[in-house]
Amino acid sequence: MRLFFLISAMLVAMAPGIVPDAMAADMAAVTSPDGRIRVEVAIGDGRTLFYSVSRDGQPIIEPSRLGLEIKDLPDMADGFTIDKASTASKAETWHPVWGEESAIYNNYRELRLSLSQKKLAPERKIAVVFRVFDDGIGFRYEFPRQAKLGDFTITDELTEFAFTGRHTTWSLPVEGIRFYEGLFRKLPIDSVGWASTPVTIRTDSGLHMALHEANLTDYAAMNVKATPGSNTLRAALTPWSTGDKVYVTDVRVTPWRTLIIADNAGDMMLSRLMLNLNEPCALTDTSWIKPQRYIGVWWAYHMKKNTWEDGPAHGATTENVKRHIDFAACNNFNGVLVEGWNPDWRTWDFSYTQSYPDFDLPELARYAKSKGVSLIGHHETGGRIRNYEEQMEQGMALYEQNGMHFVKTGYVGDLLDDRERHSSQFGVRHYRKVIEAAARHRLAIDNHEPVIPTGLQRTFPNLMTQEGVRGQEWNAWCPEGGNPPEHTVTLPFTRGLAGPMDYTPAIFDFRNETFPQTRPNTTLAKQLALFVILYSPLQMAADMIESYQENPGPFQFLCDCPTDWDKTVYPEAEIGEYVTVARKQKDGDTWYIGSATGASARCAEIKLDFLDPDARYMATIYRDGPDADYLDNPYPVLIERREVTADNTLAIPQGRSGGAAIKIAKIA
Ligand code: NOJ
Repeated sequence: MRLFFLISAMLVAMAPGIVPDAMAADMAAVTSPDGRIRVEVAIGDGRTLFYSVSRDGQPIIEPSRLGLEIKDLPDMADGFTIDKASTASKAETWHPVWGEESAIYNNYRELRLSLSQKKLAPERKIAVVFRVFDDGIGFRYEFPRQAKLGDFTITDELTEFAFTGRHTTWSLPVEGIRFYEGLFRKLPIDSVGWASTPVTIRTDSGLHMALHEANLTDYAAMNVKATPGSNTLRAALTPWSTGDKVYVTDVRVTPWRTLIIADNAGDMMLSRLMLNLNEPCALTDTSWIKPQRYIGVWWAYHMKKNTWEDGPAHGATTENVKRHIDFAACNNFNGVLVEGWNPDWRTWDFSYTQSYPDFDLPELARYAKSKGVSLIGHHETGGRIRNYEEQMEQGMALYEQNGMHFVKTGYVGDLLDDRERHSSQFGVRHYRKVIEAAARHRLAIDNHEPVIPTGLQRTFPNLMTQEGVRGQEWNAWCPEGGNPPEHTVTLPFTRGLAGPMDYTPAIFDFRNETFPQTRPNTTLAKQLALFVILYSPLQMAADMIESYQENPGPFQFLCDCPTDWDKTVYPEAEIGEYVTVARKQKDGDTWYIGSATGASARCAEIKLDFLDPDARYMATIYRDGPDADYLDNPYPVLIERREVTADNTLAIPQGRSGGAAIKIAKIA
């Protein structure tokens, strides 16, 4: 009787032509559009809720608990009844304002379970929604407002991910790492401890997965905790200083918990599931959001040649910034970042409306514009949120009045306002406020010390890039000697899955007078390759302009390489070992390749079968010179030109931590 009721209720709710894959009183299932991935949800003992995932009939996630613990109210953990199961589907192509592709296919089947906890009087209703794509799944909880459920506090999320074996993982620990600036650890799944997501997972049979979240809005970031002796990861949200996890008020849905499932590392990189689980663009006019290459009054600070604060070595002087604008204009760079323009870098008690006396903001903005260059502003907050929020509107208005469209924001400070973690709901709320305010002032953001990205750039394309990565600056001052060779060939498959990274590649001069034991642990050719590999629509050539003037040959690659793409493919990919990515320029026929290796020398074998089979191309190859090696011979770069077609395979020898950057242009 009950089963009959459920099935008829469901048929009424279904879109025409969509039939749920399975349905009974206490279970429901849905499969991906290609039929390979199947999610089942079932009621277990005590009427607890479980989901499981399989692919081609093989389990991927064993039955795993769903639910939440609530403060001062009964938990949303058991006593569930499935009132209704409805399905829906979508197949659409959308076009991001910028990205790794110009067209993204969003194709999923959805299962919505309306649940009630009938033992409560009146009964309480929530929903769990699954979306199943050909390349993975997403699910979230929904909390419709009702008599017994107004605002409430989540003290714990019980969501589990019970993997099927002791898989290999790559992750960052939550504790002991500031702002996600750490080295990814390769560990068996039961040893990850308390880790932030993305967690990248490889099974013994070579399946690649990534566990993360999408559309983090008014919630705490999802970290995970391993259970020693088991292969289950459990959600472990970043708490407020009170210990509470989330105050649910107006936003009545959680972020999507996401799992990419792919046959190999390269396919995992092409999943756009996280973006598809974010809302469409919320901005009506995006004409001012322009992906670009930039240089900056920046590396000289980290190399202790200039100072942020005023004084004899002040970096942000009108004269020095004009020199950078001239260099950018001459070399086809579109932006110049200026840090250290506003007082007070001695006390870190910042004004966002006053300039140091030797920095003329209106004149520089005017000068930059006259040269076709954008001046990229900087708001370091030191994590002092109250101070920033009090001045944010005026600070952004100042940039807007001067025709500027970019601001780099920074939050150096262990706790926001000395209390709350960056990835707490407090931090998430603040960062969202900044994105929305910036959009009103027509400003695009490069957010340093952020909460981990979750694909919000689909909705707010003015959120262009973020740090949240152990970037190049660690090669300037890290006491242990800079980022190791495997770091940059691990990042695309880990942090890179969360979204664009402001790693700031392309250092050409590895000398370091202040910390002589610390420098980029790469060859120069690999620095060029990273410009393509580490995706960011705002991509910095981070070195001082003198280093580029001394190396005009390799520098030409940076002057040519775009930062917005029509298409991306991965001819070679092995986490932590090597990666080759090929990207086709948006609105053009030219391809750019970045290829890099980790600690071992190797010969990249790059099949060019992604090229137009009917065309001839000229490849300009910037690769490691003979005997190049990151430790004792990092600088030699060979520049070669070769005619190629789609039938060719390029064999490119690379020294230890070496690489190659290649431009492949159609011959008219
Ligand atoms: C740390 C940022 O990552 C870096 O880019 C910036 O220069 C300093 N903070 C100062 O804001």
